[in-house]
Amino acid sequence: MNISIFGLGYVGAVSLACLARDGNTVIGVDIDPVKLQLIMDGRSPVIEEGMPELMAAMAASGRVQVTQDVQQAVNQTEVSFICVGTPSQANGSQDQTAVLRLAEQLGKALASKSTHHTIVFRSTLLPGTVEGKLKTLLEQHSDKKDGVDFDICFQPEFLREGSSIKDYDNPPFTIVGANTERAHQQMQRLFGHLPGQYHKTDVKTAETVKYFCNIFHALKITFANEVARLCEGLAVDPFKVMDLVCADKQLNISTAYLKPGFAFGGSCLPKDLRAMQYVAKQADIQIPMLGHVLSSNHIHLQQACKKILALGCRQIGMIGLSFKSGTDDLRESPLVDLAEYLIGKGMQLSIYDPEVNLSRLLGANKKYIEESIPHIGQLMSEDVAAVLANNSVIILGLNDKALVEQVLAGLTAEHTLVDLVHLKQPEQVKGKYIGMCW
Ligand SMILES: NC(=O)c1ccc[n+]([C@@H]2O[C@H](COP(=O)([O-])OP(=O)(O)OC[C@H]3O[C@@H](n4cnc5c(N)ncnc54)[C@H](O)[C@@H]3O)[C@@H](O)[C@H]2O)c1
Repeated sequence: MNISIFGLGYVGAVSLACLARDGNTVIGVDIDPVKLQLIMDGRSPVIEEGMPELMAAMAASGRVQVTQDVQQAVNQTEVSFICVGTPSQANGSQDQTAVLRLAEQLGKALASKSTHHTIVFRSTLLPGTVEGKLKTLLEQHSDKKDGVDFDICFQPEFLREGSSIKDYDNPPFTIVGANTERAHQQMQRLFGHLPGQYHKTDVKTAETVKYFCNIFHALKITFANEVARLCEGLAVDPFKVMDLVCADKQLNISTAYLKPGFAFGGSCLPKDLRAMQYVAKQADIQIPMLGHVLSSNHIHLQQACKKILALGCRQIGMIGLSFKSGTDDLRESPLVDLAEYLIGKGMQLSIYDPEVNLSRLLGANKKYIEESIPHIGQLMSEDVAAVLANNSVIILGLNDKALVEQVLAGLTAEHTLVDLVHLKQPEQVKGKYIGMCW
């Protein structure tokens, strides 16, 4: 394929060398003439393992050219990769000056091009930038239409400096956000051979995924470091601890607990977090990230409360009270907190929870309900149909399959369902549907 690459920093230079190595003809474009001269001379503009040898070989292959002329680069190629920098501004916002300016220039260049062109943004860009700002600039300056005369894609880059050629050849996956099958086919021709799955998605999701991959890395490093600071205070070897934490591939290093949903609770997580926070306080150890986990969880609960209050309905049915499906344990259940908050705001609740009802019958949870939450115990109903019939707003707090089926079957067009568990098929809800944060 004939490819142009705009921005020859770490991402652009490595992409240029690897795409040329894979048999493509590549034109590199940069505003920095020094970088262009280095490439012409067969030298790498970035310090990266393997790049000096690869750049020398590619310059000699005749498959690499450089230019500062945007029009020429667009005319001679069918795909352009945009790899310009998007650094932080002093206030933390993203500096998009380079990519905005380039989109304008690319639009002008597209205006006089008679054949189809694909523009692939690889710079990290805030969600919505490509379809909100860049597409508009491209269309305005070319007087052409995205999806018709040209295609735009967003393909996040996952290489790491220091191992970028290896990462280029072994990405965890390839993600391409595009709106046309034509663009996906082109990208699959270029990257389909790489290991890791090729994921087709929409442009905004692709932009967003890049951010949360990086933020997740930062979060993991900070977690390990806060654990280490606590371990030092406790005179425990942090490496032994983290090695064992990472040895659990079922719950720790896994997709477990990584699905958006309602606030966490139960008899263990909040209490154990609090105990470690107290240890840190006593030993004067700063753990700002772990120290804010419970307050973030509380904010999540507040978000559900706000959404429910905004409905302006005083009669509310709650399906679920225990802290998760399959248990009658009410200790630190976020659904109990939610119920208490709503009662405090003057709502009239009726609550159905099959496990809690059963344990009340057997007497197991009777004492806890009577002594700790008598005001909530009185609101329990033994009849799901009655809860649905007497309330137009229903909060679904448990995702037990049989229970969900029972609730969905009983809903009417008059109901509003507030979904805290993320129903697989929300379109099955007969009335109005409100997700927790989806
Ligand atoms: N560095 C990484 O490891 C890495 C990894 C993944 C994603 N990213 C993202 O990729 C993007 C590029 O990162 P980088 O580290 O390669 O940046 P960089 O700063 O090393 O390189 C950017 C290049 O773009 C050039 N440039 C600026 N304006 C231009 C224009 N109008 N036309 C042509 N060239 C222009 C600059 O001269 C520079 O050579 C950023 O958005 C970054 O967040 C970087």
